[in-house]
Amino acid sequence: MTILITGGAGFIGSHFARLKVKQQEKVVVLDKLTYAGNLENLDEITKDSNKLPYFKFHKGDICNKHLVEKIVKEEDVSVIVNFAADSHVDRSIMNADSFIDTDVKGTYTLLETAKENNVKRFIQISTDEVYGSIASGSFKESDVLYPRNPYSASKAGAEMLANAYWVTHKVPVIIARSCNNYGPNQYPEKLLPLFITNAMEDKELPVYGDGKQIRDWLHVEDNCSAIDFLLENGKPGETYNISAGNECTNIEITNLILNELKKPSSLIKHVKDRVGHDRRYSIDCSKIRSLGWEPNITFEDGIKSTIKWYITNKDWWNKIKTGEFLKYYGKQYEERETKLSSYCLGS
Ligand code: NAD
Ligand code: TYD
Repeated sequence: MTILITGGAGFIGSHFARLKVKQQEKVVVLDKLTYAGNLENLDEITKDSNKLPYFKFHKGDICNKHLVEKIVKEEDVSVIVNFAADSHVDRSIMNADSFIDTDVKGTYTLLETAKENNVKRFIQISTDEVYGSIASGSFKESDVLYPRNPYSASKAGAEMLANAYWVTHKVPVIIARSCNNYGPNQYPEKLLPLFITNAMEDKELPVYGDGKQIRDWLHVEDNCSAIDFLLENGKPGETYNISAGNECTNIEITNLILNELKKPSSLIKHVKDRVGHDRRYSIDCSKIRSLGWEPNITFEDGIKSTIKWYITNKDWWNKIKTGEFLKYYGKQYEERETKLSSYCLGS
């Protein structure tokens, strides 16, 4: 069995690739390496000669039907896990073009390829944001979707297509809707890595509006274990919420970071609120829990170990924050790509 992981050089996809390679499964990553894709996220695999035989990397776009088809045929792909997406709400508010291209058209391309090539499982990685905001209580999988920003609308569009391909073409699709992830290797434009690294550098932490918006936080490794669990135990045509039940206001999490890093609250700067800002996300994950999945990482441990990771991996995020990342790709990309392309499964 070969598993195609799209967006596997990004935050969650790279953790999932590491998990599957650790399990000695054959993994092919297809990633366009946008600003958010980072080959260093895969170093744990590519720098380990015991893991390399299970791994192959292709740089490319999930919208490229010819390429996707070639990979699926040549690598004998039986499972697709689609993480590839443009994923940052603020960017989607500025310009949603690439969100519609990748999240909607890209998912369509993968579904078409899965249909034509008898793929045995297709996990569509989605988000709790497709439900929109909820003042009290928690959304269940059967609730109506009401996405309220271009990012979540593009993810909802992808879900609609995925579901249609199950109903119409029997592509064995499972939809995984997780809440906000946190952990190592998250691009420092999202709340946690941005605030941790800003605080480390004594820079201001820009809290949108009153900071009382609520998000539900899940450690990335717990999300990956849930997705892996669904590969085995999920039912095609079904959707599953994934969360560990760690709801927290943005200002609470900001204070937690400052306390942990022993930095003053004067670093907090309330700035103009995000337009269309969803006030609260909350999902009921009793469906997946009833099948036997449970998270392993407590919020307290997860936040502490995540902060520690950003402290010990300053090189990783500093390159990104100083723009070195782009220079690095310019200079070293060709060489790394050639090297990665020559990593053949089983050789
Ligand atoms: P990310 O932005 O860190 O990574 C996305 C990856 O996709 C990058 O490596 C990028 O290069 C790649 N990519 C983008 N466009 C592509 C294209 N056209 N073809 C191939 N590759 C492309 O995102 P993430 O935070 O790891 O999120 C992964 C998935 O999980 C996304 O689908 C996102 O919607 C979903 N999700 C994320 C969260 C979260 O808190 N981060 C929560 C719920 C769901
Ligand atoms: P983010 O990490 O962008 O995830 P999402 O919008 O997908 O939930 O933001 C998490 C929360 O933090 C969200 O309510 C917006 C808020 N936020 C800030 O207050 N300041 C920031 O600089 C960022 C990036 C986010």
